[in-house]
Amino acid sequence: MYGVRLDGLGKSIPNLDITNEYLATMVETSDEWIQTRTGIKSRRIAVEESTTSLAINAAKQALENSGLEPKDIELVIVATVSPDMAMPSTACVVAENLQIENAICFDLTAACSGFIYASEVATSFIKLGNYKNALVIGAEVLSKMVDWQDRGTCILFADGAGAAIYKRSDENNIIGFSNKSDGKGSQLIRLANIPHSNSFSKAEEVERHIQMDGQAVYKFATTAVPKNIIELLEKENYRLEDVDWFVLHQANARIIDSVAKRLKVSLDKFFMNVSEYGNTSAASIPIALYDAKHLFKKGDKIILSGFGAGLTWGSMLLIWG
Ligand code: COA
Repeated sequence: MYGVRLDGLGKSIPNLDITNEYLATMVETSDEWIQTRTGIKSRRIAVEESTTSLAINAAKQALENSGLEPKDIELVIVATVSPDMAMPSTACVVAENLQIENAICFDLTAACSGFIYASEVATSFIKLGNYKNALVIGAEVLSKMVDWQDRGTCILFADGAGAAIYKRSDENNIIGFSNKSDGKGSQLIRLANIPHSNSFSKAEEVERHIQMDGQAVYKFATTAVPKNIIELLEKENYRLEDVDWFVLHQANARIIDSVAKRLKVSLDKFFMNVSEYGNTSAASIPIALYDAKHLFKKGDKIILSGFGAGLTWGSMLLIWG
């Protein structure tokens, strides 16, 4: 088995900044309500940008920061639930734009756990020796998937992309994963925005926007995530006290606060940028990692955790450096 390290991060966000105050002119809500329930103050919304252009920009930056050349990348995975096209995959278009010619490329759908799932796939392939270097991207334009009249969802979701490079290495810094799914919760967050008829069947009425049972999702996240983190640490023989930083999916500051309380860990160890960017699904963890990287020291143990539609959830333990 080979070692793997994370080396090279990138981030790309749309230019348009939409504040809570602005949203309050569109739906019946208020800055105070949104901040109290979610911790979100503003979010970036794609106008000129697309899922593909955000993914390309984040990937370009990650590649530059990794010191690798496009020819060195042998695997490209884009985690997304909001691709611009069903085919080709976003990953193939990213590769074309960055002149990555020696890689297999595909998209992966695991909603807000997408970056952690894709990281397990990529790093497992590298450990097995199938590929040397992988580019993993989380990219979303969820603003095109929400109903802007639905105050229960339009205040939460937003757009952006983050990217990471995983390299084969003598030293192994990617300690382990605990990824989970439970289809019993499949109806709690849904997006059915694809054609549902053909010449031989009647066109069905399809809900084109994100549907969510907010309270059930809140309950799921605040119970599943702390349990999952503990399970991962036990599996890898680490203690909670060994962890220097927790970078959770940036869905909601209250969820992160509740996870910290359940784990009895100081909130100071939990990085948060949800106030600026809202919930960018698969993009939120690599964007948060990018924004938090100045805080990390070589040797820091970092837990990354994602959770969302599926239901899916999962954590990853890595050592910085
Ligand atoms: N502004 C003002 N009022 C709002 C509102 C908004 N944006 N959205 C909902 N409300 C209202 C509701 O209509 C309801 O009014 P009522 O009591 O008159 O019926 C009231 O506020 C309470 O609604 P509820 O849905 O119970 O609020 P909540 O405390 O559960 O907060 C969420 C809603 C969505 C913020 C919360 O459930 C949550 O964060 N869930 C997790 C969602 C998530 O993170 N999903 C992604 C996971 S990847």
